[in-house]
Amino acid sequence: MQNTRIVVSIPEEADYDVRIGSGIRADLGRRMRSYPKLEAASSALVITDSNVEGLYLRSVKASLADAGYEVADIVVPAGEGSKSLQVASEVWDAMASLGLTRDSCVIALGGGVVGDIAGFTASTYMRGISVVQAPTTLLSMVDSSVGGKTAVNLDAGKNMVGTFYQPDLVCADIETLATLDEREWTCGLAEAAKSAVIDSDDFFFWMVENAQGIFAREEELVAETIKRCIVFKAGVVARDKQETAGVRECLNYGHTLAHAIETLAGYGTFSHGAAVAEGMRFAAFLSERVIGADPAFTEAQGELLDSLGLPHLDWSAEPHDILQAMKHDKKARAGHVRFVLMKDVGAWEVSAVPDDVILDGLEDYFQMRDGVR
Ligand code: GLY
Repeated sequence: MQNTRIVVSIPEEADYDVRIGSGIRADLGRRMRSYPKLEAASSALVITDSNVEGLYLRSVKASLADAGYEVADIVVPAGEGSKSLQVASEVWDAMASLGLTRDSCVIALGGGVVGDIAGFTASTYMRGISVVQAPTTLLSMVDSSVGGKTAVNLDAGKNMVGTFYQPDLVCADIETLATLDEREWTCGLAEAAKSAVIDSDDFFFWMVENAQGIFAREEELVAETIKRCIVFKAGVVARDKQETAGVRECLNYGHTLAHAIETLAGYGTFSHGAAVAEGMRFAAFLSERVIGADPAFTEAQGELLDSLGLPHLDWSAEPHDILQAMKHDKKARAGHVRFVLMKDVGAWEVSAVPDDVILDGLEDYFQMRDGVR
């Protein structure tokens, strides 16, 4: 397959490239040498996790060493638990012991958790050193590796401490997707479907048409899906880098219920993507009531999610408990739950939905869902 290059151009930030291709991790070091900031670095620290370590760490380190970097690595335990201030502190200490300086760079090799902890520590160590995102999951390729959000969790909630810090390069080697299990795969597909729904008819109907091949991991289709998601996300972030201009919020479509599901069911019970897919279905249902969306949209979105291996979730809870969980989310403002609602494909709006409308909506949604399942 052909390698793809997308330039992410964000006002007041240096442009950076996203490279998508098969096997391109083998070329990472040489490629990094072609970017002025990374070219000047003498040392490169790869941060990865205990799942990815045995799969791709050796080849990435070899590529960096071949390009003349002095290479070290830090392996954090796989899982959300590594997004903590404790692990961040250990990484900062290791960076200092390894003698990393302002001109060193960090390579985040892994999924969203690695991208977050590596991005967060790189953005704060010596007030910020270069970072390359080398995502190895579909979720991180289509969403989290681009756009510069980094964070760790607190007891008070997910992603409570973090930075906006753009990478210097993103290198998405789609060969690494071969080792993802089905849960991880469909998890990424949910975020990709989310992007298609918010973006445009063109992306949405392309995905509908190719859903079977995408689900079956046909390489060209997967690469095209990632490319479309990144072009879409780059456009959103360029308009609203820090989620203050009312644009980047659209990426939270489906996430209001998803975060409540994850909190109430316990993190890890369902994949993030499975929860997002259910959240998208509920948000579409609510959109019919609150902004008069056409039920045909809800149906079309549901069929897309079904064909991507994301059926309805076998989960429900008391609507009041769900509402409370939504109100504790850091996206809630002044006690109001804000939903991204869809009038149609590509036509979204953010709305503070009254409590009683949410409660009735949840009750009716579960009844409708359990009637059709
Ligand atoms: N993942 C949502 C965002 O980057 O804003």
